[in-house]
Amino acid sequence: MKIRIAPSLLAADFTRLAEEVHRAERAGADMLHCDVMDGVYVPNISFGFPVIRQISKITPLPLDVHMMTSCPRKYIDVLRDAGALIVTVHSDAMAPDEVKETIRAIRDTGMVAALALRPACPAEEILPYVPDIGMVLVMTVEPGFGGQKYIPASTRRIAEARRMFTDYGLDTDIEVDGGIKRDNVDIVLNAGATVIVAGSAVYSGDVYENTKAFADHFKEWEAAH
Ligand code: DX5
Ligand code: ZN
Repeated sequence: MKIRIAPSLLAADFTRLAEEVHRAERAGADMLHCDVMDGVYVPNISFGFPVIRQISKITPLPLDVHMMTSCPRKYIDVLRDAGALIVTVHSDAMAPDEVKETIRAIRDTGMVAALALRPACPAEEILPYVPDIGMVLVMTVEPGFGGQKYIPASTRRIAEARRMFTDYGLDTDIEVDGGIKRDNVDIVLNAGATVIVAGSAVYSGDVYENTKAFADHFKEWEAAH
């Protein structure tokens, strides 16, 4: 399967955001991961729709928006208008009977709907939604902050999610997010992850070199598997 690198802008230098975007783009980034936090669903506030709209105007890269907000349903239209391509929501950020409706509403706009699993959520939680989602995001740290350490129990959750999609005859993307570095990325690739989010591993240091190192590694990995 194709492996993709999604640098997370949360770790970028916001005073030079355009440059940070373009350097990742030139180095072969496949998409840009945008973390939206509302200080309610997670104990942190990041950036919102005006910033995403500006980013979408300066790059052809798909924007992968990770909604760490309560009631994500109410932001779907504004996300589409801001240029998002993938919208990832946490099912525990809404009432259980709203999950299907929210996924459908995202898809109705033409965007890709993805569900995120916090570290405490077992992979089976996505079971009722497997045929409807374009991607699952397995959180490999607690959502809310960049720069945390990969939680080792995540590896089994990634493998379980992969098994679940395979059982359905699907090769749905599995995105992993949190604490992924060059020295542990093979663990998540071997478990079945296909979209790799990297914040501090890309943006603390040379953005171009770091993004390119991931992209080159993924080409080698694809060729060997
Ligand atoms: C954390 C965010 C992540 C974060 C990852 O809640 O969802 O996308 O930017 O950052 P690193 O790669 O530094 O763990
Ligand atoms: Zn994220």
